[in-house]
Amino acid sequence: MKLGLNLSFAIKRWIGGENMARIISEELGYDRVQFTWDLVDPSWPADTRDRIAGDYAQSFRKAGIAIESSFGGLASYTYNHFLAPTRDLRDLGKLHLRNAIDMTAAMEVKAAGMPLGSYSAADALDRQRREEIYREALEAIVELSRHAKSRGLETLLIEPVPLSTEFPSSAEDALRLMRDLDGATDIPVRLLVDWGHAMFPALFGDDANMDHWQKTCGEFIHSYHIQQTDGLLDRHWNFTRKGIVTPELLAEFWNRHGLTDQTYFLEIIYPFEQPDDEVLSDMKNATRLLRAVQ
Ligand SMILES: [Fe+2]
Ligand SMILES: [Fe+2]
Repeated sequence: MKLGLNLSFAIKRWIGGENMARIISEELGYDRVQFTWDLVDPSWPADTRDRIAGDYAQSFRKAGIAIESSFGGLASYTYNHFLAPTRDLRDLGKLHLRNAIDMTAAMEVKAAGMPLGSYSAADALDRQRREEIYREALEAIVELSRHAKSRGLETLLIEPVPLSTEFPSSAEDALRLMRDLDGATDIPVRLLVDWGHAMFPALFGDDANMDHWQKTCGEFIHSYHIQQTDGLLDRHWNFTRKGIVTPELLAEFWNRHGLTDQTYFLEIIYPFEQPDDEVLSDMKNATRLLRAVQ
């Protein structure tokens, strides 16, 4: 299985390209990453933002680390973005992804993505409002795909999330989004499926398994987030903890479906209070467990 590293584990801890490249390459032994917008906020003033983001990109390249994509993290996920209840908020969601596309282009990275957004509590219960806002979101993504292409990007990614107040959440939602965008965008829009989001029985019942996702929308899956979870909440634990995802299951799925291109990005979110040395040794131990099944 092709392993990569989402950099969420490092936020607020290992800052700057050279420092981070050393952790990724020398300490953890990865050569493929997904850059998180929690390290560089896409809404920072463009000149400063691109200088800081460019420092990561250059240092990573120098260390032989490929940046496959850039992706929204915790800060980005806080907002409603494309599915927000007001036009102002939806416009800001659009600006958010546009800024992220620009930052990604400045890093000379070819793909960027995030969850689409979340409805307000009231809109989530209103079928017609959901539909109206969704239609607008499709138009916004189509328009942004044009911008992304003009900046040299090749793919946009959307991550489904395990909440009925957001979209897409289920594999069927994800398929609908893909079909609605297919052929309408200037560059392909694809899915990034998070194992911990997909394996969520409280929302998906018997369909809370990756085979269901693969069967339903597998042809559109570009990459995966992997994380440990208990299926009760979206945990983003590491594989040093016991849960419903095991390295063996990840490897078995990879082999049985004959996957080749879709990177498994390890996306771990530690409590801010956890000491840095503990985080680093936990990352090393989990990486060892994942490599043992390859
Ligand atoms: Fe994720
Ligand atoms: Fe998550």
